[in-house]
Amino acid sequence: MPKLSIRDLDLKGKRLFIRVDFNVPLAPGGQEITSDKRIKASLPTIKYALEQGAGLVLASHLGRPKGKPNPEMSLKPVAARLSELLGRPVKMAPDCIGPEVEAMKPAPGEVLLLENLRFHPEEEKNDPEFARKLAALCDLYVNDAFGSAHRAHASTVGMIQFVPKAAAGLLMDKELEYLTKATRNPERPCVAILGGAKVSDKIEVIQNLAKFVDRLLIGGAMAYTFLKAQGRPTGKSLVEDDKVGLAGELLASLGSKLMLPADHVVAAELKEGAECQVVEAIPEGMLGLDIGPKTVAAFSAEIAKARTIIWNGPMGVFEKPPFDKGTVAVGKAVAASGAVSVVGGGDSEKAVKSAGVADKISHISTGGGASLEFLSGIELPGVAALTDK
Ligand code: 3PG
Repeated sequence: MPKLSIRDLDLKGKRLFIRVDFNVPLAPGGQEITSDKRIKASLPTIKYALEQGAGLVLASHLGRPKGKPNPEMSLKPVAARLSELLGRPVKMAPDCIGPEVEAMKPAPGEVLLLENLRFHPEEEKNDPEFARKLAALCDLYVNDAFGSAHRAHASTVGMIQFVPKAAAGLLMDKELEYLTKATRNPERPCVAILGGAKVSDKIEVIQNLAKFVDRLLIGGAMAYTFLKAQGRPTGKSLVEDDKVGLAGELLASLGSKLMLPADHVVAAELKEGAECQVVEAIPEGMLGLDIGPKTVAAFSAEIAKARTIIWNGPMGVFEKPPFDKGTVAVGKAVAASGAVSVVGGGDSEKAVKSAGVADKISHISTGGGASLEFLSGIELPGVAALTDK
């Protein structure tokens, strides 16, 4: 069911609560933001709401403070960075609920950032009284926090019952548009590339992708569990022994759609710059750490034919050269394909960046867990709760 968008709301003179995902990485000590990507990603929504004449209450979590205030997870550095990016003051609230916060309610054109929602245990418990207090700060609600849309918390779900209208922000709209385009009626051929360490993290994703993709390319350490299920040698490589049976079932159900690595870059230990070799069968005592050149060629040929590409997870230990070659080559092939390409957040985003092709990707999701749940076919609670059009 399509959801209301911020563009459907009359914002003039209204106090708008925007749930953003300002869960940014901080350097130890909690004072310095090491990537402001998530702040920048919400700017279009924030600027749009200000242009429309709203006063803004922005709210987010940061880290996992376990329901207690923790100065190292304060959103104060985010208020300062947001103010620089917006070129206007951003007031920082001392908390997210309570009389002091209520006294700071913003007038049209003003921006107030609430303190970390997770300093209260009620946020993650989706406590109705806490949700009602958050809702009392606003006239209308927008969720732009795609990265948190898989969480059914007070600020993403609970407070919606206490507001007249709840809409998706521009970032949320864009995320849903690309992910929906890639997963429902994609332009064909549709190729999914999955990597990362564990099959267990991606079982639901594999099962759901299998329903509609034309090809599923599997690299990364998760490939070794599949190779073991085929009875092939895996040496000392990371294998989830308790998932070998499941990998066998997935192999049988996916049939010829699935492509596994045909060769591997192996080393005796996982160490940057370690001596390595390319093999087709992983020898005893060796660890598979990347896909080999034959696999790169085979995967790249599939990628070149694709019109839609979904990519989640690196092909090898890309943080430790020389085991980054497979991920970099696959990134370059995706960039050169001209296909609509959608990349999951988290590690997948880092992998695309290390391949130097981030600007050639149609859409890099700001949500790691949220994009994985979407690709698993699960309805995101933070989206489901929004007002239907
Ligand atoms: C994320 O970084 O994936 C989101 O901000 C959600 O954070 P969480 O996993 O702590 O809920």
